[in-house]
Amino acid sequence: MSYQTEIRRQTAPDITKRKGGEPIVSLTAYHAHTAQIIDPYVDFLLVGDSLGMVMHGYESTVPVPLDLMIMHGAAVVRGSRRALVVVDMPFGSYEESPAIAFRNAARVMKETGCGAIKLEGGTRMAETIRYLTERGIPVMAHIGLTPQSVNVMGGFKTQGRRQGEWAAIEADAAAVAEAGAFAVVLEGMAELLAARITKQIPIPTIGIGASVSCDGQILVLEDMLGLNPRVPKFVKKFGELGNAIETAVKSYAEEVRARSFPAPEHVYAMRAEAPADGKPKSKKSKAAGE
Ligand code: KIV
Repeated sequence: MSYQTEIRRQTAPDITKRKGGEPIVSLTAYHAHTAQIIDPYVDFLLVGDSLGMVMHGYESTVPVPLDLMIMHGAAVVRGSRRALVVVDMPFGSYEESPAIAFRNAARVMKETGCGAIKLEGGTRMAETIRYLTERGIPVMAHIGLTPQSVNVMGGFKTQGRRQGEWAAIEADAAAVAEAGAFAVVLEGMAELLAARITKQIPIPTIGIGASVSCDGQILVLEDMLGLNPRVPKFVKKFGELGNAIETAVKSYAEEVRARSFPAPEHVYAMRAEAPADGKPKSKKSKAAGE
């Protein structure tokens, strides 16, 4: 048995089996270092296309290129050992046809080593979800507030707050489950509707701004750590790292300006046997113990 097999990574079917059981814990991760820190505590890590806004300063997720997702996805796989890694398909990489979606999703799987991909859309993406799943690519669906459609929705708008909107969203949930998605993210949707959908479909629902009754929860890591000054209502800040970073950087700047950093313990002394003049010792002087 090799060392790699001792820690078994979670798979898409492992996540599906958790329907109705102990809540599924997940967070976004964009790089190897944070993936390594959070890997022991989560069931899956999502390399979300939110990285475009969080890490690269874009106004929305729309401009995120496929190559960027692949670069971050591979880093998260390298940094983690046990969580399933799910990589988001960015806008424009899967909507055109199931065959194009397959080509790009296969690239993501091969080049990152991730265990699944996620794509946005309900009924309209069902055919693609089936096509990918039947060809070996586990798909996590994403319905409700779908950020890649921000330009059609006219903003990041909570879904299902009027009962008249429910039927279409429930149909989306049923369609992705029926098409073979192994789980579905319910984002930015009325609490009652998310709870209802969770009861209706046979695959796990992963809530973000949805309901505590969902089968699991996800948050953007930087939001819950307090690194993002402006967060939506549904984010609970479990840490205040933004303040901690500012305090640390302020102290660093003060110490550099005061020449108190680096202190003696942070610099390298000369080795004892290396003479300060740089000239090698003669055999005679070495023997004399100089
Ligand atoms: O891109 C992302 O981070 C996501 C989560 C918010 C679900 O899709």
